[in-house]
Amino acid sequence: MANVIVVGAQFGDEGKAKVTDLLAKNADVVVRYQGGCNAGHTVVVGGKTYKFHLIPSGILYPGTICVLSPGMVIDPKALINEIKSIRSQGLDDSGLKVSAYAHVTMPYHLMLDEAEEASRGEAKIGTTKRGIGPTYADKCARSGIRLEDLLDEEVLKAKLEWLVPRKNVILERLYNLPSLDAQAILKEYAAYGKELAKYVVDTAAVIFQAVQEKKNILFEGAQGTLLDLDHGSYPYVTSSSPSAGGACIGAGVGPTMIDRVIGVAKAYSTRVGEGPFPTEQFGEAGEGLRQTGTAWAEVGTTTGRPRRCGWFDCVLGRYAVRVNGLDCLAITKLDVLDQFDRIKVCVAYKDSVTGKVYKELPSIGSTFQHLEPVYEDLPGWNESTRKVRQAKDLPAKAKSYLEFLSQKLEVPIAIVSVGPERDDTIIIEDPIHGPKRVLVTAPV
Ligand code: GDP
Ligand code: IMO
Ligand code: MG
Repeated sequence: MANVIVVGAQFGDEGKAKVTDLLAKNADVVVRYQGGCNAGHTVVVGGKTYKFHLIPSGILYPGTICVLSPGMVIDPKALINEIKSIRSQGLDDSGLKVSAYAHVTMPYHLMLDEAEEASRGEAKIGTTKRGIGPTYADKCARSGIRLEDLLDEEVLKAKLEWLVPRKNVILERLYNLPSLDAQAILKEYAAYGKELAKYVVDTAAVIFQAVQEKKNILFEGAQGTLLDLDHGSYPYVTSSSPSAGGACIGAGVGPTMIDRVIGVAKAYSTRVGEGPFPTEQFGEAGEGLRQTGTAWAEVGTTTGRPRRCGWFDCVLGRYAVRVNGLDCLAITKLDVLDQFDRIKVCVAYKDSVTGKVYKELPSIGSTFQHLEPVYEDLPGWNESTRKVRQAKDLPAKAKSYLEFLSQKLEVPIAIVSVGPERDDTIIIEDPIHGPKRVLVTAPV
């Protein structure tokens, strides 16, 4: 029995779904704990590509309980479409459980996400426009609609009668948009409630029962540490808590029930949307990392936007180890570096204003913008790693590259991914039953 969190250690899109799918083989329950359909999770098995937005990546294993937690925000229309899509692909949805307490993305949230972004001009966040920020904002303001409300037409009616006129004032007066009709929303969303009712339960109780029965539970993070509302590069973040602590709050499990935290990081870095990205590369290196034209090209799964690409950032990596308490890392997309003669790695930051050099992230606040990367230049291996299945068969320079990252981050690398397929994977040490990591170096 082990309860394990899989968390993005960078800016999202690290390959969390591939790692979750790999580990889900031995899981009884796979849980999404935050975020919504802003996530785009890709799993490739036997040449077939699956893309998930709301449904946990454990759905590929028939009989696995797949939970959408209270910490998530759910667009019911998107969820119904995704359920139809998985069914049409022959997948089993009998284990799907959706929290009655998850907040619902309503039509005004989608409109406000779009309108707020447009009104920010140059200062836009670059959201996925899935209504995520406005849905979480209403949750915090205690004006949200929860999934359970869609199942009770009287409750939904009363809430909409109060909410919609208020939203209309903002839509019409602030953004010059058409107003919404509460009655039409009531009809549409009550119908979604009827369609989803059979999946809706108290998911925290389902998880607690699984804990008592000593089952294996996997918590699948969406987004990444640097997009965390509290610990990310605010305001260029999402509105939830992707970092490991968010799993306990979002899913409703106590921290004492968690056995392991596995961080997922690419062998380089990407970011989609606006915000600071110290190691971003614009020229040949950036294009090389983007892999345009391949199935694994750095293009957003949800929005189709090209991802910004750059070198691995050890300073942010160490920060992710610290904020999440990572026990080990899964490094993905090592194969993308096969083509490079030289590979740069950011090992420190230099403050462009004061000239001071930092090995630990001094601040994730406004001064983060002034930090410039200090690189070490490592030799590439110029050899395909795609077919390698054991660490001993990796090119020596690829091994040195991984050892370099592991040493800089002071965390073992348990899994290395060398291609998008489930089997394109090297297990270096058991990520779940291997030794627990002990933090040895205090931040300087
Ligand atoms: P997630 O959001 O963290 O689950 O990641 P995404 O699915 O958005 O993006 C990861 C992309 O990289 C997908 O296209 C995956 O199929 C692909 N991928 C994952 N691991 C590897 C790998 O080791 N090598 C290559 N070439 N592609 C990979
Ligand atoms: P997965 O789970 C990468 C980014 C958006 C934007 C910011 C806020 O696939 O890793 P939001 O719509 O959440 O309000 O957007 O967060 N973002 C992601 N970037 N991967 C994701 O999910 C993301 N989900 C949101 O691009 O910069
Ligand atoms: Mg993604």
